Amino acid sequence: MTSSLKIPAALEPAVKAITDRTHRYVVLYGGRGSGKSWNTARILLNVGRHIPLRVLCTREIQKTIAESVHQLLVEQISAMGFESFYEVTKDTIRGKNGTDFIFSGLRQQDITKLKSLEGVDVAWVEEGQVTSEKSLDVLIPTIRKKDSMIWVTFNPELEDDPVYKRFIVQRPPNALCLKVNYNDNPFFPDVLESERAYLESIDESPGQAKYQNIWEGECLPAVEGAIFAHEIAQLYDQGRFRLLDHDPKGKVYGVMDLGWGVSTMVLAQRFASTVQIIGYYEWMNRTYADISRELKTNHPDFEWGKIFMPHDAAHRDPKYGKSHFEVMEEQGWDTAQIPQIGVENYIEAGRAMFGNVYVSTDCERLIHCLRRFRYQSAQATGRTMAPLKDEFSHGAEAWCYTAVVADDMVNNVPVPNNPYTALQEVYAG
Ligand SMILES: Nc1ncnc2c1ncn2[C@@H]1O[C@H](COP(=O)(O)OP(=O)(O)O)[C@@H](O)[C@H]1O
Ligand SMILES: [Mg+2]
Repeated sequence: MTSSLKIPAALEPAVKAITDRTHRYVVLYGGRGSGKSWNTARILLNVGRHIPLRVLCTREIQKTIAESVHQLLVEQISAMGFESFYEVTKDTIRGKNGTDFIFSGLRQQDITKLKSLEGVDVAWVEEGQVTSEKSLDVLIPTIRKKDSMIWVTFNPELEDDPVYKRFIVQRPPNALCLKVNYNDNPFFPDVLESERAYLESIDESPGQAKYQNIWEGECLPAVEGAIFAHEIAQLYDQGRFRLLDHDPKGKVYGVMDLGWGVSTMVLAQRFASTVQIIGYYEWMNRTYADISRELKTNHPDFEWGKIFMPHDAAHRDPKYGKSHFEVMEEQGWDTAQIPQIGVENYIEAGRAMFGNVYVSTDCERLIHCLRRFRYQSAQATGRTMAPLKDEFSHGAEAWCYTAVVADDMVNNVPVPNNPYTALQEVYAG
């Protein structure tokens, strides 16, 4: 079947997966032009000719049918000469045997309400790199018919994107994951080959990260235009994001950022010029009493230093009738205000800290935020560069604030076995 269908050899296991139903998930990922979309369309159209299939073609956002794979399917129907079998309407495709293709976005509507989803045999999630965790959580239990399958096609972006994490990093046993690139596609067209060769020749990003992402299907260190893209890549290269325990020789400081209903806190220790980030919290609509309890319960052995809070914590909060500083003080914390030095200076301090920081692997979410911290587009602001405020900015801001106050993180006792202490004694004597 595969030869008459012209399916690249690298994708043959996917053909077997659907004909023999060997796996629940088929995940095709890799660089541009590897034939993921075309051949998924071809395989589904062909299988649908032999057995009645209900196929849901979906993606994170599909406002109009033009954004779906409808057109791609129509083209493949004619390329394979299946016109007499499939009847195409504006927004469906139906086979003579009852096979049908339906199209829907994941995010806009509550997909569970779509009645027609009950009998879905195959859900094809296209452009999976932008699928949200929530959409996956809704879709997966919806596709529940016996032997039903979920196909995901995507070009990787970040390694902590939900689809990449769930299928490639965690790799469930019932998933067939095939990585394919342009060189696995015997039909790779000349126009794309010249694009590829050109980018390879001009890409000057560190490690040719951009080329590696687009054509070799490797993850990027950070989103396009990320403020700390370069620094995050170095943090990984230098092995400074790693297993890291709380060091009982020093105090633990908390550095907070406050947003609408959201508070974030970085837990840091400082030894000489090195900052160790050992914890990260993100709270939604939680009281300070709650937050305090959680910190103390989770870390009964910490010797706490100050909790640093931004200047807006000085405002009286209507809920408490007091400033945020006062409320935290009442919970038994020693607090201090983070100096206001202007957004560009926060960012540059945050950037400089990458050079002398270690981050515990417990702080995955913080890294997740830092990879996505970027500026608003110049058009949006009309003038100055301001960071985009989104669900990732509060974590990144707490990181920058940590850099600003790092010099104020002191430990009472000199570090034992510190050679400099011994030297100082020699000179003092
Ligand atoms: N089975 C095939 N037969 C003929 N051409 C193909 C086939 N598969 C892929 N191609 C060619 O390769 C190009 C890239 O395929 P596509 O599926 O769009 O890649 P991807 O989705 O991985 O970016 C297509 O535009 C088409 O020219
Ligand atoms: Mg594609």
